[in-house]
This record gives sequence, structure tokens and C-alpha cells, in this order.
Amino acid sequence: VRDRLVDPFGRAIDYVRVSVTDRCDLRCVYCMAERQTFLPKAELLTIEELDRLCTAFVDLGARRIRLTGGEPLVRRGFMDLVQGVGRHLRSGRLEELTLTTNGTLLADHAEGLFRASVRRVNVSIDTLNPDAYRRITRGGDLGKVLAGIEAARAIGLRIKLNAVALRDDNADELPDMIRWAHERDIDISLIETMPLGEIEADRMDQYLSLAEVRRGLEQTWTLTPVAHRTGGPSRYVRVAETGGLLGFITPLSHMFCESCNRVRVTCTGRLYLCLGQDHAVDLRDALRDHPDDDRPLRAAIRSGIGLKPEGHDFRIERRGAAPAVARPMSMTGG
Ligand code: GTP
Ligand code: 5AD
Ligand code: SF4
Repeated sequence: VRDRLVDPFGRAIDYVRVSVTDRCDLRCVYCMAERQTFLPKAELLTIEELDRLCTAFVDLGARRIRLTGGEPLVRRGFMDLVQGVGRHLRSGRLEELTLTTNGTLLADHAEGLFRASVRRVNVSIDTLNPDAYRRITRGGDLGKVLAGIEAARAIGLRIKLNAVALRDDNADELPDMIRWAHERDIDISLIETMPLGEIEADRMDQYLSLAEVRRGLEQTWTLTPVAHRTGGPSRYVRVAETGGLLGFITPLSHMFCESCNRVRVTCTGRLYLCLGQDHAVDLRDALRDHPDDDRPLRAAIRSGIGLKPEGHDFRIERRGAAPAVARPMSMTGG
């Protein structure tokens, strides 16, 4: 009999997001400080530990695992991890193994991912304008990401785009991005910027309510809510005029936590029970102190689930306020 994880509010937890590194080859302005300091490598879980961690979650009933970062594809040995965890897909114990990536290295890895039984990846891209992309990511090359998306599609990976809605940087461009994605049979989700981690800019200057964006889109398009749910916070509509799916991730303008199905683990092995809260338990000691016995690890996970809060603490901030959560997004991968 397989275990099942159920939190104190009766929600079944069958989805885990694992950050494999806090490093990234980009420095998105809403995500990182310009001179972000990264963790010493010794603090990170090894690839073997990450594999054991994923296996423990599968043993506890997780049906989906999403690998994130930082940027997961910059982690050395990452493809070994994907291959390793992929065995649970082939045995039918895991339904889906995916990643959230910035796409810059996707062209090199698309084939390996597909061979490891990955079928879907989410690519973060906030603009299709190369200059705006360079500014938002502090130096990123949009061409590499577009080539990555093409390579992934050519090999048969399904792509979802994630775009953070930014008042000055991409608000005007969102309809074009949606059309661009839908013309290529790519789904796209828009995300409200969340107050996570210290950055230089005041995030509230760029905050754009997706309720407002949605009203704008409805001036020209017919949006029909659809049941398509991945169990995540994205609420999807079908755009009649393009035929494509559009998701809205609205932590600030509309709370979605009642249906939360997920927990996240940082690259250092801390289990966070919510993206927008500080409740956490350490799993690294259980991994390191008991290299041949996963029972303490499973027990630590189980007791962590008992701490899962009802919902996040993000609020629309006053200008100049400290972030609701000090830990940067790159530690828990969104
Ligand atoms: P699928 O539904 O499996 O496609 O994935 P997803 O949309 O949940 O994953 P993805 O990595 O594409 O997530 C997109 C963004 O949604 C994340 O980077 C976060 O910004 C946000 N997000 C995902 N899960 C949560 C959550 O539990 N709480 C909050 N506040 N935001 C979340
Ligand atoms: N608020 C909202 N989304 C964020 N992301 C990174 N930082 C933030 C933030 N503060 C997004 C990235 C990527 C996903 C992993 O999270 O753009 O799409
Ligand atoms: Fe890197 Fe993603 Fe953060 Fe951008 S948002 S700096 S791509 S981790």
C-alpha cells in the first residue's frame, strides 16, 4: 500500500517542487539582486541526495515532481538526476516529471529530457523583444531561449510559457505574447509579481493586477473559463479567437490556496510548506545522517506536512515595504 500525504486542512499533497540549485545564468530584475550571493556548493544536496529525496516523496504518494532552480539546467549532473527520477515514470509510480526553466540551455538538453521521459516543460519568458529581454534578465539572449523552445517542440516536448506581468516592461506586449504562443500551440500563464527576496527595485512599482489585465484582454477577446487544471494555482481560460489556453496566477488579486496540492524543497534540503510562508523543516540531516535508510527522511517529510499553513502571506505591499518573505524565489523555484 502506498502512503498518502494529507495536510492539516485535508488537502492531499501529491506534487513536489524541488529546487536543484540557487544559481542561475540570468539575473531577472524582479527575482535577484544585481550582485546576488549564492550558497557555497557544500550546502547543496548532492545529485544522489536529490534522487533519494524524490524517491522518498514518490514512496509517500507524490504523483508529480517539478524540478526548478535557480536554473535547473545549470546544475552539474542535472541530467543524471532526471534520468534517475525518470525510472519512477517508467514504473508507473510517478505520473509526471517536469521542469521550470529559463530556456537558455534547453536546445542542448531537449533530447536528453525527452529520452528521460519528460514530456512537458515550463519556460519563463517575460517578453519577445530582445532589448527588453536583455534589460529584464540583465544581459540574457532571447535568441537562445527561442532556439531552446524550437528544439524542445521539435523533439515532442509540450511547452508552457510563464510570463510575469510587469507594468512598465511588458504590460503593452502581453496580447502579442499570448497570440505568439497560441499560434505555436503553446499554452501561456501570466503571473503577478510576488514580494519574495530582497531586490534593488521596489516591486510594487511594477506590480500589475491580472484582474486588470484580464479586463483589458476581454475588450477584444472572448475568454471562456475551462476546467483544465494541473492542480496548480493557474486558472485557465480558452481564448476563442486564438483557440489557445491562457492561465492566470494571481496570488495578490485572487487567493487560490484552498486547493493547494504542493510543497517545495530548497536546494539545501529544507522543506517549505508554502511559497509565501516561512514554515519549514530540514530534510538534509535525515538524508546525510542515514545514507542507507530512508525511514527518518520519510518521517521528517510527514511531520513537515503537518505544519502546512492554510495559505500564503503575500499582500499588496505598501511602497518601500520589506518583502513578505525574505528568502529569494531562486531558493524554492516558484
Ligand atoms: P503546472 O501547473 O504543472 O504547469 O505548473 P505550475 O504553473 O504550477 O508551475 P510553474 O513552475 O510554471 O509555476 C509558475 C509560477 O506560478 C511559479 O513560478 C510561481 O510563481 C507560481 N506558483 C506556483 N505554485 C505556487 C503556489 O503554490 N503559490 C504561489 N503563490 N505561487 C505559485
Ligand atoms: N514574483 C513572481 N514570479 C516570479 N518569478 C521569479 N520571481 C518572481 C516573483 N518575485 C517567476 C519567474 C519564473 C518562475 C519560476 O517564477 O519568472 O517564471
Ligand atoms: Fe533566473 Fe528564473 Fe530568477 Fe530569472 S526568474 S533570475 S531565470 S531563477
